[in-house]
Amino acid sequence: MKSIFTQLAAATLSFAMLTLPVRGFAQTATSVKTAPNEAAIAGFGGYAGLMKINLDLVARLKTNALIGKLFADTDAPRLAGLLSDQFCELLGGGCKYTGNDMRAAHQGMGIKTHHFNALAEELQLAMDAAGVSQSEQFRLIAKLAPMKRDINERPE
Ligand code: HEM
Repeated sequence: MKSIFTQLAAATLSFAMLTLPVRGFAQTATSVKTAPNEAAIAGFGGYAGLMKINLDLVARLKTNALIGKLFADTDAPRLAGLLSDQFCELLGGGCKYTGNDMRAAHQGMGIKTHHFNALAEELQLAMDAAGVSQSEQFRLIAKLAPMKRDINERPE
């Protein structure tokens, strides 16, 4: 079955996403935080819920048969914090993502569609495990799908 990411990415390719890093929202991955607009991310359990999902996601990525090696040395709380900031911002929670832009962060990794789909599936499993509704999952996925053009190596 075609991943929902693949379908959405195809549908939204023309909308390049600006992922310029924004500085000035200092936060650490492990401290308990709330987003400026928690209501927008209530379906994910708020900022704390996003962190829980992303810590689970990174743990799943590390053991993934296809892409696990890429995350072997990854500092899990750091990456989970960056992903939580990014997802919170995309969902309208008012956070500011302060990491590298998606092109720079993934350059040279040789990421192809099957790698992208493997990550997308682990994210969906992590959201399922956290009890995130399908409509809220779709809301996030629709924001992430256009990033594929910056993350995947060209040509495919
Ligand atoms: C929509 C999909 C994706 C999103 C939103 C995403 C997001 C991110 C973010 C926010 C970072 C941190 C950047 C920084 O350090 O400043 C990152 C790093 C990374 N990403 Fe992705 N990514 C995606 C897809 C992928 C895929 C498909 C792979 C490989 C299969 C991948 C592999 C990595 C690796 C290895 C790192 C470095 C982790 C480390 O610091 O050790 N990403 N990604």
